[in-house]
Amino acid sequence: MSRVFNFSAGPAALPTDVLEQAQAEMLDWNGSGMSVMEMSHRGKDYMSIAAKAEADLRQLMSIPDNYKVLFLQGGASSQFAMVPINLLKARDGQKRKSADYLLTGQWSKKAVAEAKRYCEVNLVADTSDSNFTTVPDEAELTFNPDAAYVHYTPNETIVGVEFPYIPDTGDVPLVADMSSTILSRHIDVSKFGVIYAGAQKNIGPAGLTIVIVREDLIGHADPAMPAMFDYKIHADNDSMYNTPPTYSWYLAGLVFARGLKLGGMSAVEEVNKRKAEKLYKAIDDSSFYSNPVDVKCRSWMNVPFILANSDLDSAFIEQAAANGLMTLKGHRSVGGMRASIYNAMPEEGVDALIAFMQDFERTNA
Ligand SMILES: Cc1ncc(COP(=O)(O)O)c(C=O)c1O
Repeated sequence: MSRVFNFSAGPAALPTDVLEQAQAEMLDWNGSGMSVMEMSHRGKDYMSIAAKAEADLRQLMSIPDNYKVLFLQGGASSQFAMVPINLLKARDGQKRKSADYLLTGQWSKKAVAEAKRYCEVNLVADTSDSNFTTVPDEAELTFNPDAAYVHYTPNETIVGVEFPYIPDTGDVPLVADMSSTILSRHIDVSKFGVIYAGAQKNIGPAGLTIVIVREDLIGHADPAMPAMFDYKIHADNDSMYNTPPTYSWYLAGLVFARGLKLGGMSAVEEVNKRKAEKLYKAIDDSSFYSNPVDVKCRSWMNVPFILANSDLDSAFIEQAAANGLMTLKGHRSVGGMRASIYNAMPEEGVDALIAFMQDFERTNA
């Protein structure tokens, strides 16, 4: 067996030890004689898997007791709608007309477009003029104190731009699409009203969406909307109102347990910081590669880089693949390369990429 270094932005690499454990348990989970995939979600065995996954995530992220953790389907894209559906009336029972959005990339653009179906969207920031290569300074942000909530995307996966701060929105609930940054470092959950994330980067396989929501924001969904879009229905049923994505939830649980075993978020954060810093340094030290993102907001998870001569792009990708460095092609809207270096990317993978980049530069510059 040979495993490559997979730099995919998502679905992304999973830790090999997690996959090995899943493999070992595939046919017979813990003496049950069946695969987790074959279990009833209401049976004792599965309930114990589900509860442990939630408890481990709570411990890993230090999630306060007044937050619910929901294990849903529909991807982060469903949350683009569920957030307005659930939050427009959540502050005081009166439906608010508008919500504040920070538009800083392709994913927040989609969140804005979806929210416009439900409310007025007030753009507190819009960095489209910079091709989304920067984020606003905190001092430039003026929030509407009457907004239902403020939504932002702490890490924009496509351009690789990441907020170096958490916006202070006062009494207005802060909502974050953390799809590509959750579990990359310690964050203070109590600063947020809602955190949501598609699982397929730092959490586990696609098909699972994690929503961490403060309890007072639950129970205010628009009653005209489908039950499946109501946070309260899911919270009241421990995310088992319908059949949850059982196998993805189980695998996410293995990832959370591994995070704790590695020493928790501070240990994970230290490695992620080092990985990102060495890759950006290799890019900055060369005149052959460059990164278009404002230095103050470079992503730790998604590192795009362009070659001075784009005619060499396909040779770079081909030769990288021949060296076991896969999925480095940049997003079609940006071009160039993108190395996504989520938690499951070992430091040796980043070292191997840097060594390859230097070698390629020597032969082609
Ligand atoms: C930041 C961000 N938000 C939202 C999404 C969409 O997630 P999903 O495909 O789970 O709906 C992605 C997908 O890559 C993403 O990176």
